[in-house]
Amino acid sequence: MANNTNQAGFASKLGAILAAAGSAVGLGNVWRFPTETGSNGGAAFILIYLLFMFLLAMPIMIAEFTIGRHGQSDVSSSFDKMCGGKKGWKYMGLIPVVAGFLVLSYYAVVAGWTLDYAVRAGMNDFAGKAAADYANDFAAFSSDPLRPLAWLFLILALTFGIVAMGVQKGIERGAKIMMPILFIFIAVLVVCSMTLPNASLGLSFLLKPDFSKVTGATCLSAMGQAFFSLSVGLCCLCTYACYFRKDIDLIKDGFSVATIDTLVALMSGLIIFPAVYSIPGLSPDAGPSLVFITLPNVFQTVFGNMPVLAYAFSLMFYLLLVMAALTSSISMLEMAEAYFQKKYGISRFKSALGVSLVCGVLGIACSLSFGIWKDLTVFGMGFFDLFDFLVAKFIMPVGGFLTCIFLGWVVDEKILRAEITNDGKLKQPLYPVFRFIIRYFAPVCIVVIFMNELGLFDVIKMMF
Ligand code: ALA
Repeated sequence: MANNTNQAGFASKLGAILAAAGSAVGLGNVWRFPTETGSNGGAAFILIYLLFMFLLAMPIMIAEFTIGRHGQSDVSSSFDKMCGGKKGWKYMGLIPVVAGFLVLSYYAVVAGWTLDYAVRAGMNDFAGKAAADYANDFAAFSSDPLRPLAWLFLILALTFGIVAMGVQKGIERGAKIMMPILFIFIAVLVVCSMTLPNASLGLSFLLKPDFSKVTGATCLSAMGQAFFSLSVGLCCLCTYACYFRKDIDLIKDGFSVATIDTLVALMSGLIIFPAVYSIPGLSPDAGPSLVFITLPNVFQTVFGNMPVLAYAFSLMFYLLLVMAALTSSISMLEMAEAYFQKKYGISRFKSALGVSLVCGVLGIACSLSFGIWKDLTVFGMGFFDLFDFLVAKFIMPVGGFLTCIFLGWVVDEKILRAEITNDGKLKQPLYPVFRFIIRYFAPVCIVVIFMNELGLFDVIKMMF
């Protein structure tokens, strides 16, 4: 971290944007976004998602940038430094640290699956199978007590390796290598997918909204997805921001990160839905198994008479998923690692290793919840679903809400203005809009959506 260790920050503006975009772009874009879009009716969900992305998630991400760059330290110390000694807020930064463990534990399980599928695609293992084999394969793999665990630990080891190398040599260099490859792969895959038979059906699923499908739950899902996609409430980007240089324009760069993230999500939809509609009978609402069951089948079937293309398409797609997952998992590890490094004065290596090992243990529980522990439930959910629910639908919105209250109402306005305008060097005409969103709009929206989801409006209506 810039101030409290001898660790240098990001060397260049481009490196900072790519690292932040890498943290945002992840399985959330390529796996979770199409899953949520497919299960929530397509275009109408996307429209609501876009509103939440730019009116809620992006401003809160910029708020996290502000806290991180001003605090110049791990997330907990940054909140502590900015709260001006106000009781309670001192501990606010502990919420993302706890959330960081939960999210990395289950995220690494899915990241591990992508690694397994990338290796299998590389070995041409998907060729020549019957349609039912893909579902059986995935069920057998995800419920296996050992194989997914090996991939889980490999992903955590790769994540640890990059984080242990440091901010410039690990995180920034990793983002500079992986992000451009990721963009190229996405562009190639979109072009290929759009040329498939019936691609127009997939396009209209993405573009023609059916508002009759929109419910309160759709809004909560869209908000959860926007927050998940920018890791809002987890403060991964708050931690990265403490490595930002002082001349970075936080609003402009926040907009760039949100735009890159949204484009990657939409382009993932443009890869996946035309592919799904290219085979009659397949459904876009296949849920989380969409990319592990439906797509390998699609790749082999539609390119059946061009095995080289089937091979290349599958390999590129799963490598894309692996890189997206890695650039995000390193930011999750970095956030928790930075906290323990500062708190206990230990080395980056030891701190990252400790966090990785704990996430490995929690990850075992998440992985086994697809197999031998599937009947072990809490509130009716297995560990994996429970962690996902807690993170995306609870901790992230609550964390986002508290971040808004903190920066909008607790922190001295002079600090906020100075940070957003780079000490008056930038004009920043959008500053009043940003402040209004942080103080009023975002907190009210989050509360309304929560009340609606909990059925509190129905109770109020019944009372009057
Ligand atoms: N922002 C990360 C993702 O979208 C968590 O995968």
